[in-house]
Amino acid sequence: MSLEEDPRVYSISVRIREVSTIIPVMSYKGGVGKSTISALLSLALDEGGYKVGLLDLDFTNPSIHRIFGIDIETATLREEKGVLPLELGNIKVMSVAFFTKDNTLPLRGSELDSVFKELLSITIWGKLDFLVVDMPPGLSDIALDVLKYFREKMRPIIVSASSILSVAPTINLAKMMREIKLNPLGVIINRGVGTEEVYENVLRSIAERGISILGTVEKDGGLDASYGNTLRLRRTRAYSSVKKISESIEASIKKEIV
Ligand SMILES: Nc1ncnc2c1ncn2[C@@H]1O[C@H](COP(=O)(O)OP(=O)(O)O)[C@@H](O)[C@H]1O
Ligand SMILES: [Mg+2]
Repeated sequence: MSLEEDPRVYSISVRIREVSTIIPVMSYKGGVGKSTISALLSLALDEGGYKVGLLDLDFTNPSIHRIFGIDIETATLREEKGVLPLELGNIKVMSVAFFTKDNTLPLRGSELDSVFKELLSITIWGKLDFLVVDMPPGLSDIALDVLKYFREKMRPIIVSASSILSVAPTINLAKMMREIKLNPLGVIINRGVGTEEVYENVLRSIAERGISILGTVEKDGGLDASYGNTLRLRRTRAYSSVKKISESIEASIKKEIV
């Protein structure tokens, strides 16, 4: 069966009908701060007064529940002609971990594809200003499918570490996105992951390629002690950095709409 014939693909488009903007948070590899930035960005947009959803699609290492302190063993999702995301304050959270619990999914490509389509086609988001998606690293088949289904409403963000080794893969990812006619909002450089010294170098090398830099997240030794508690997360330096970035995202999206 081709993707287009799969009725779930139609359901996915129905499920996101009332979502205004989808922000996939991407990177060329794991460990660069995608989950942390996705979580902080959701908190920041929520503080800005927007209706926000956060979807954890990292099948191999889902971590949004840990960052937000959600106990997946006891978390139960309400069903109502579909599945309602968990509500953490005003933020609607859905994660593959709510279904897999803490077991790594022993799935092959096609099974994985099926599980993730199922997840997207059952989740009832309702009306949202922003749906932030913590993406699996790289441009795997799953990532490409997500980009395809969400295409119309999507403004991806690319996270880069502050490391010379991050420059080429980040530029390549941005180039690939442009080739498939996606328009990334820009790159966030995470100074907490990678070295401080090369930051200026990384910044210049990426900007020279005409890729916009959305902002920088400061190194924050206090993050680890704050995971699991949204109040504490909102008091971190990393949160202040992401709040500034979220304000510039809000502004650039507003400008596009006007
Ligand atoms: N700005 C930062 N300052 C300090 N540590 C950070 C920062 N951003 C991320 N980290 C740390 O880096 C690690 C990877 O972050 P994570 O968000 O899980 O990345 P990813 O989702 O890309 O794998 C975590 O241990 C996290 O605490
Ligand atoms: Mg992650």
